[in-house]
Order: sequence, then C-alpha cells, then structure tokens
Amino acid sequence: MEGMKLIGFGENITIEIQKERGKGKKNPFNVQQWQSANTISLDLTYLFDTPGDSPSITFEDIKDIAPKVIKAHRMLTKDEGDIYDNGIPMTGWQNLPEKITQDHLADIKSAARNLSSRIDAFVSLGIGGSYLGIETTIKALTHTYFNQLSRKERGDAPEIYFLGQNMDPDYFRDTLDMLKGKMIGINVISKSGTTTETAIAFRILRNVIEKNWGQEAKNLIYVTTDTVRGGLQKLSKDKGYKTFSIPDNIGGRYSVLTDVGLLGLAMTNIDIEEFAAGFKYMRRITMSDDLWKNPSLLHAAARYAAWLKGKKIEVVATNSASLYGVARWMEQLFPESEGHSGHGMWVSPSLYSEKLHANGQMVQQGERNLLETFIMLKEHDNRVYIPQDEGNLEGLNFIPDKGRDMNSINRIVIEGPAYAHYLGAVPNMVIEIPRRTAFCLGQIFYMMERSVAISGYLFGHNPFIQPGVEDYKKAMFALLEKPGFEEKGKEIKDNISKMKKIKI
Ligand code: PA5
Repeated sequence: MEGMKLIGFGENITIEIQKERGKGKKNPFNVQQWQSANTISLDLTYLFDTPGDSPSITFEDIKDIAPKVIKAHRMLTKDEGDIYDNGIPMTGWQNLPEKITQDHLADIKSAARNLSSRIDAFVSLGIGGSYLGIETTIKALTHTYFNQLSRKERGDAPEIYFLGQNMDPDYFRDTLDMLKGKMIGINVISKSGTTTETAIAFRILRNVIEKNWGQEAKNLIYVTTDTVRGGLQKLSKDKGYKTFSIPDNIGGRYSVLTDVGLLGLAMTNIDIEEFAAGFKYMRRITMSDDLWKNPSLLHAAARYAAWLKGKKIEVVATNSASLYGVARWMEQLFPESEGHSGHGMWVSPSLYSEKLHANGQMVQQGERNLLETFIMLKEHDNRVYIPQDEGNLEGLNFIPDKGRDMNSINRIVIEGPAYAHYLGAVPNMVIEIPRRTAFCLGQIFYMMERSVAISGYLFGHNPFIQPGVEDYKKAMFALLEKPGFEEKGKEIKDNISKMKKIKI
C-alpha cells in the first residue's frame, strides 16, 4: 500500500516561508503599512472590576500607581537607580535597538552562512538567558518538526539542537544519536564561562568534534561569551575558535538581541534585521511618558496592581504551539528579575486548549491568587478546514456550515477563557501577536524587557542581578567538590547529614 497523501491540503505555508527566507526574501518591515499590520497590542478589557468577593483591580489602582510607574520609567531611561551589577549599569539592552549597526548584523549573517554551508546540524549550547531567547524565536518562526524536514524544506538551513540547558544524561545521549553521521557545528554561549551545565556540554561536544575532525575542529566551534573576562576567552584564543561577544552591560535574560540570539537565528535564516527592527519599533513606542500609550508601562502597572491585590501567580497562556516558547521565555525573564526579597509573581506558561483540561479547573474555581496573560496569535501561517460529515454523529457540521475552520476555533480558545476566567474573578490581559514574524517577536521581547525592568523599580530592587541563581550555582560547585569550594561542600554535607531523614 502507498503511504498517506495530503489530499485537499495545499502547501504548508511555514515551509514556503522557510524556503523563501533561504533564498533571501525579506518582509517589507520598513514599510509603515506592513508595520501597522504587524504591531502587537495589549487589551485590558478583562483586567478591571472582576465580579465576586475576591479583591479586584480597579482603574483607581492604576491611577494611584501611575506616578510611581512614570518615575521608574524616567529613571530607567536615564540609567538611574538600582541597576548595577559589579559596578556596571546593566541597562545596555534599552538603547541597543538604536545602536545595533547594519554592519554588525551583516557580520553575524556572514559567520552564520560560513558555518551553515559546511554542516548538517547546528548545536546551540547554553542555559537561561544564554538559551531561551534563541529557542523561543526559532520555534516561533519555523515548522514544528523543523529537523525532520529536508534541507530544502528548511530553506537550506542545518538542523538545530540545544544542549547544556539541563544535565539529563538520557536527553544528552539521545541528542548525540540525532547528530550521528552528520557534520556538526556548535556555538557555546556563556557570559560567565563558568556555568556548570553549559561548560560540561561544551567539554563533551568539543571532545567529540576534536575526535572526529582533528585540526578542522576549530572551524566548527563558535564561542559567544563576555568580551574580556572568563575562561572561554582564553580557551578560544588558545584553540583558535571564532568568538562573539556579550556586552558587559547586558545580562543574560536581556541579551537576545546581542550575538547571543542573533547568531542562532541567522543559522536558521531568520531575518535578524527584521528582528532588530521589531525591537527598535517597540523601543520607540515605549519611550512615551504616557502610561496609556506605552504597553510596557501599562503591563508593569497592571501586574504590580495585581500583585498588591494578592495575585501571586501569572498564567501566561497561548493558543499557538509556536509561541509557547514566548511564555517560557517570560517564565525566565520575570521570576529571575522580580523574585527578590519575598516579591514577584510566579509565571506559569500554558498552551491552550491543552492546559484548559488541566489547570483550567483551577483557573476557573481555585484559589483567587491568579492573574492571566494571554499571548494570542491572530493569524496562523496555515488554515485547517473542517470537513462536512454525512452522518454528523458528533453534531459538528454546524462548524463548517457557519464557515468556521480550525483557525477561528483557535481564536475562541482565547476569547472564551478570557471571558469565563474574568467572570471567575481572574483578571486578565490579552497580548495579540498579529503574525509569526521576526518583527512581532522583537516587539514582544522589548516590551517585556522594559516591563520587567520597571517592575524592579516598583518592587524596589535591582531586576538585573540574580543572586539566588548564583547561590544554586555555588551549592552545585560545592557538592561537586570543585577546587576552591571544598570547605563549603563539607559544610553542606555536614548540614545535610544532621537533618532528620524522612523517606517512606
Ligand atoms: O539571565 C541570566 O543572567 C541567567 O539566566 C544567565 O543567562 C544564565 O545563568 C547563564 O549564564 P551564563 O551565560 O553566564 O552561562
């Protein structure tokens, strides 16, 4: 028997877009009309005055907070306040969209092309801010099963894999199996150069590459790290690896528009000029002092008001599997920046409808400590039509009868819950993403970076450091008995041995 044919389905538009991108086709991202059609929006219809007894957010709340928000905005714009890490003001990301040059983007593209043409698969190594933005953007703008497509369907891009973001040996080994028999290239991304997970993944991959390609290995390894400090600089110099830099004044989770993100995106032919233009576009919008015209300020104010009303968990829900990464990226950006001194909101990424059949019950009727932010994709790449059925046993013929397809249902997957959850006293906001474009991604990243920075000022602490994360890194070094951490390791082990063991 022959294999399945896709009868009645046209070409997959995502694949068509990938192929066109591979040929260098660009969206007209400098054209005003195109920009307007690709501008993200923030809808607060269901934020205020939720019914019921639990505390609701009111317009008055926002009015009360507004002066504090505007003050924070002005301080941030002038690089003032609690923004330092080791004496460096960590706000380099805020003007980066204006500062980034065409020459720099061209250099990144040329380095990506150079490697891409020689390899079958590209592995990006990194964790946290050195990982999530790249994966998020690639997933948002490419086919769900990118690596399983032919090279032609991928737009002549190599397969792409991620390692170093966890220490699961099975995951690691399984990924190596996917790379077997292929020519590979890697980019190791670590600002500090000392993050255990990334460093271990790098050591293993470097070893594999050296064993396979000897002298040629150095041309298959790219390194993205701090401009001067850190062990990775020295190693790269010794071995002759090509390096890319992470500016001193930009922290990991704010770094997707630096070489950290740009190189990986260019490897998959994503238009990094369009991506940068999205950042620039949102930067201009969010320079406004007017709270009601500035989505970053309004978003920060709404979240802070919600927090003051006891909303300690933010469900970030999307109707797009390709944009689920945006929710995951927010899960890193916000808690790592806000979770200081007993503050901050827990971010729970959710893909709807799937999660409506899990946490949906809790959202509707559980403890009223939730805020919900929807990331709604308006126009998917493809349309999926629902056929008529002669028997109509499940009674679904009314859907095609009314001219509805899967796309219109998927919109209701947000519109329905937004209304129902509001009635259930969960204040919510909808961020609408018009299309899966690099321009839209750049906008939401910048909007959120600015929002969380403002949030730091509102809570009264530095949103650009992560001492809690450093604590876990040190505890790991100690338990691994890393030289220099022996005493700490002994102390931790002693403490653990004195604890009452409770295991059944
Ligand atoms: O946002 C951050 O600073 C962190 O998430 C870092 O990106 C993460 O810990 C990785 O650090 P590094 O790039 O130093 O390996």
